[in-house]
Amino acid sequence: MALEKEIESPDFVLIRKMCNEDVETVAELDKKCFPTPWTVSAYYTEVHNPSAYYIIAEQNGVVIGFAGMWCIMDEAHITTIGVEPELRGRKIGELVLVSLLDEALNRGVHRATLEVRRTNTVAQNLYAKYGFKTMAVRKGYYGNNNEDAFVMWTDDMCEPDFLRLLRQRKDELEAYH
Ligand SMILES: CC(C)(COP(=O)(O)OP(=O)(O)OC[C@H]1O[C@@H](n2cnc3c(N)ncnc32)[C@H](O)[C@@H]1OP(=O)(O)O)[C@@H](O)C(=O)NCCC(=O)NCCS
Repeated sequence: MALEKEIESPDFVLIRKMCNEDVETVAELDKKCFPTPWTVSAYYTEVHNPSAYYIIAEQNGVVIGFAGMWCIMDEAHITTIGVEPELRGRKIGELVLVSLLDEALNRGVHRATLEVRRTNTVAQNLYAKYGFKTMAVRKGYYGNNNEDAFVMWTDDMCEPDFLRLLRQRKDELEAYH
């Protein structure tokens, strides 16, 4: 199905699992997204971590977004998410987040958490769309500038309202791309 859509529309955004061959490209994109990027070897470790799940968004064979999480018991810890700077504001970040949350549900997850910089209102807005709320603050968490981290959680991922929202948005975003 994805392949058919890819052939029909060359700008189709494909979401797929990250593999060994992707990690150097993802690490390069990570540098454009974060002031303290992960190393290539950190990505290799994550790709082979059985508790982790990392995906990429790809357009015309080019990696334009990425995200990952650890699933531990019934919780997903979203570890990273980033989009090519020139392609932001085109629903790629949301597509990647929705794809991650969908896979989390498949893995038996009921709630998800992440950390986000206090000043990163763009990401906070994205997370708020999926019910994430700030439940704690880690003072000075980010070493590069001593910025606080908001610890956000979304609960009740198995509630019908959440499942309906996720299904609806996934369909809309897949149609959009
Ligand atoms: C956060 C990030 C992944 C969002 O990706 P994106 O593709 O630009 O976002 P989308 O186009 O999918 O937008 C989804 C939602 O994010 C929020 N958002 C996106 N751009 C925004 C902006 N310029 N201002 C305010 N909110 C914004 C909105 O809630 C938006 O939904 P809406 O369009 O219905 O209002 C991207 O900005 C990024 O890579 N940032 C750098 C890395 C980073 O900070 N990652 C998060 C770490 S916690």
